[in-house]
Amino acid sequence: MNEAKLQEAIANPSNLGEMEDADAMGTVGSPECGDMIRMWLKFSEKDGRKVIDRASFQSFGCQTAIAVASVATEMLKGKTIEDAMAMTAEDMSQPLGALPPMKIHCGQMVEGALRAALEQDAAGRGMEAASPMSEPVTIPGAPMLAESLQVSKTAAGKIKIVFEQPESEA
Ligand code: FES
Repeated sequence: MNEAKLQEAIANPSNLGEMEDADAMGTVGSPECGDMIRMWLKFSEKDGRKVIDRASFQSFGCQTAIAVASVATEMLKGKTIEDAMAMTAEDMSQPLGALPPMKIHCGQMVEGALRAALEQDAAGRGMEAASPMSEPVTIPGAPMLAESLQVSKTAAGKIKIVFEQPESEA
């Protein structure tokens, strides 16, 4: 793990904060550690293809997730939707070096937030809509999370991802 890069990203994270004019938003939480990450995306067009113009995030609680989200949101600029969809947590945390085993889920949270935002956009639901959930079930024993949260799994089924129902925004 690149400790210097990690500390730099934690001390001075890039793209931190809500994006007022976002086109898509995804939120995930981990019932295990209680942390949450939200990612906003703004799209533009380049050479006739839809690309990510910029990405921003908020993270509640975890410094490693902040660091991964910081480098990931930088990496996402200019990526096509297909390229962004293909990015794994490992790709996104690559500038920080390999994450220690107990921090791997922090990177997966960032991947989950990105996917939630991309899926929301793909479904054409706009910013008012809820993040997509496949076969949602209520979280058993995650008292630190809002009752409106529901749980699903990543495509790989590696960790539990909690998709938040975003508030309707005018
Ligand atoms: Fe859970 Fe980092 S400790 S997201």
